[in-house]
Amino acid sequence: MKYKKVLDACCGSRMFWFDNQDERTLFIDIREKCERIVDIGTHGTIGRKPIVVNPDLVADFRKMPFENETFYHIVFDPPHFYKGAGATGKIAFQYGLLKETWKDDLRKGFAECFRVLKPNGTLIFKWCESEIPLKEVLALTDNKPLYGHRSGKKAMTHWVAFIKSNVAL
Ligand SMILES: C[S@@+](CC[C@H](N)C(=O)[O-])C[C@H]1O[C@@H](n2cnc3c(N)ncnc32)[C@H](O)[C@@H]1O
Repeated sequence: MKYKKVLDACCGSRMFWFDNQDERTLFIDIREKCERIVDIGTHGTIGRKPIVVNPDLVADFRKMPFENETFYHIVFDPPHFYKGAGATGKIAFQYGLLKETWKDDLRKGFAECFRVLKPNGTLIFKWCESEIPLKEVLALTDNKPLYGHRSGKKAMTHWVAFIKSNVAL
């Protein structure tokens, strides 16, 4: 099977993409096609049309169906809500929900992302600190982040960059 260069490891409704049909990218999610009208979204999209989750491939980031060292770049934006306000219907639909097993799930997700990344490939991890601090989540991988960006006040959103280095420094 010929793979694309980029992987979105849990694409949801692909909200953050400039082009949500980007031809270089394989979009996967654990959910099969589903759609719903929800009153959340970005400024321009709110309530305008249904939120559609429609991955190219239904797959689990904890056990990805790809060979080692397949992708040049991966974006990993797993669910970040666990028990709090986010655990309600519409937000859960938009972003998914963490389970009791979230630590193990995210540990496996990181491990799988690094397994299927090519050497020197890059991983961008997105995390919203609505309930769980970024620090606790970054502790689930041995890979050292390069740098990041944070925004927002109430629920701080972080974008964190990694590179896959096979050589111990
Ligand atoms: C925060 S949302 C992604 C939002 C997306 N980045 C966007 O721009 O719209 C997280 C997604 O992870 C998916 N997900 C949860 N567990 C998963 C798993 N084990 N494997 C793959 N996808 C998973 C959820 O179905 C949900 O769509």
